[in-house]
Order: sequence, then structure tokens, then C-alpha cells
Amino acid sequence: MEILTINNVSIDYGGHRPVVKSVNLAVNPQEIIGIVGESGSGKSTLIRAMLGLLPIGGRVSAGEIIFKGRNLLDYSKREWRELRGNKIAMIFQDAGASLNPTRKIGNQFIESIQSHFECLKADAYAKAIDMLGKMRLPDAASIMNSYTFQLSGGMKQRVAIAMAMAMEPEILLADEPTSALDVTIQAQVVRQMMDLRNQFKTSIIIVTHNMGVASYMSDKIGVMRQGEFVEWGTRAQVINNPQHEYTANLLSAIPELGGRRLV
Ligand SMILES: Nc1ncnc2c1ncn2[C@@H]1O[C@H](COP(=O)(O)OP(=O)(O)OP(=O)(O)O)[C@@H](O)[C@H]1O
Ligand SMILES: [Mg+2]
Repeated sequence: MEILTINNVSIDYGGHRPVVKSVNLAVNPQEIIGIVGESGSGKSTLIRAMLGLLPIGGRVSAGEIIFKGRNLLDYSKREWRELRGNKIAMIFQDAGASLNPTRKIGNQFIESIQSHFECLKADAYAKAIDMLGKMRLPDAASIMNSYTFQLSGGMKQRVAIAMAMAMEPEILLADEPTSALDVTIQAQVVRQMMDLRNQFKTSIIIVTHNMGVASYMSDKIGVMRQGEFVEWGTRAQVINNPQHEYTANLLSAIPELGGRRLV
């Protein structure tokens, strides 16, 4: 059974025209869905709506978002809060910026783990170190002991990704999580996300400009244009037989990931 189903969802920012137009999307457990598309096509708007995190002015004007049999749009504020970071986690493009600059990474990370799992501080610490290591961050212990200003943008981004993944969410929503990282590290983070899916049966929706990333990791790929999916299918269908010229162009211009082409 599908874990998340989006039925005819339209979203606007108060203007006359919706920026997401009657979109349908079904996510199965343990499935990775890649969403690509040009700037302004509505990718971020769509995935933010799945977590009730539309920017001010944004609203879902039609449709429903069913998570495990219930429409999220009927959730109370409290239910949304409980859902976020717990059952559904999100990695933003500038996720590193969401870290608290006044507290050491370690304290934030441990607190976040302990708020989701009943465990000893030492176990939370070990889990954090493990996740940081998986993000290929050198010297995880010293990172735990650092403030954000002591880390580069790419390091902060990987810390934030590690924190989201440590929650072992049922669904991970990722909006351009790796765009700011250099290609070798990007490849590593992508493999970690796939690992997470294998280990914890996490469903992942990843928004990316990089068709190489999408086609490497996704079971299904959707291409958005002007608020709609113009292309939708399994990885093989989309790669081997794109229906839309725009998709074909994206496929012919796939950048390399980690020094090699992936498709
Ligand atoms: N806070 C906002 N207020 C008003 N309009 C917005 C807001 N955020 C996005 N939009 C509009 O909604 C449309 C979709 O934007 P969105 O950010 O979802 O696109 P995107 O596909 O994520 O683009 P990108 O690839 O550049 O991140 C755009 O036309 C944009 O101008
Ligand atoms: Mg976006």
C-alpha cells in the first residue's frame, strides 16, 4: 500500500494562477522518487506542502495529501509538529543554515536524537558520530565539539543531512540536498541516502536539478514544468523512452557524478 498519496493538489501564493496544478503522486514504502524540472516549476512548493511548510502566503487550494490513510491537510498544528522530523523529515537546500549558531553541533545533535529515541546520551553520541562519518566528515568528534561558524557551508550541509537521517523517518523529503557540495562528496551523500532506504525502508523524495543524480538513485522520476508533471515513469521508462523533449534534453546533458557518468 502507498505510504503517501497526493491527489489533485493545487497550490497558489494568493495570485490568480496556481503554481502547482492538480498534481497527483503516489509514493510506495521504500521507494525513491526523483523530481527534476526547471527553476520555478513548483518543485519546492510541492514538497514543502507535504510537510505543511509552505512559505507565508502559500496555500493548498485543492486536493488532498494522504499519509497512512489520513489527509495531512486536516492535521492540527500540533499533529503537524509531531509529524515533522519524526515520521517525515525534510532536508532543505540550505539546511546547514537551520543549525543553531549558538550551540555546539554535538549538543544539538544529541538532543535531537534523544527527543526521538529513548536512549542514553552515550548512545546518542555514538549514533551521531556514526552518521557524521557516513557523510564522509573527517574527525566527527571534533565536529561534535564545534560551533557552526567553525564549519564550511558544505560541512554544515552534511551535518544537517546526518541529523535528518539519524531520525530514521518513514519519508525523507530532500530539496536539492547536495547541490552545494562538490561532486565526490555529492556522490557519497547520494549513496548514503540510498543506504538509508535499504536499512530503514525509508521512502525518499528528492528534488534535484541534476538529472544524473535523479536517474542514479530513483526508482521513479517525475519532470515538472509550470506546476505539472510533464513526465512520469519508472527510471527505465524515463531514461530509455522519455515522452517529453524537455526530458530528452535533460538526459543528454547529464553531468558526471563523482567523476563518472551514471547512466
Ligand atoms: N514565497 C513565495 N511567494 C510567492 N510566490 C512564490 C513563493 N515561492 C515560490 N513562488 C512562486 O511559485 C513558483 C514555483 O516556485 P518553486 O520555488 O516551487 O519552484 P522550484 O521548482 O523549486 O524552483 P527552483 O528550481 O528554482 O528551486 C514560482 O513561480 C515562484 O515564483
Ligand atoms: Mg526549489
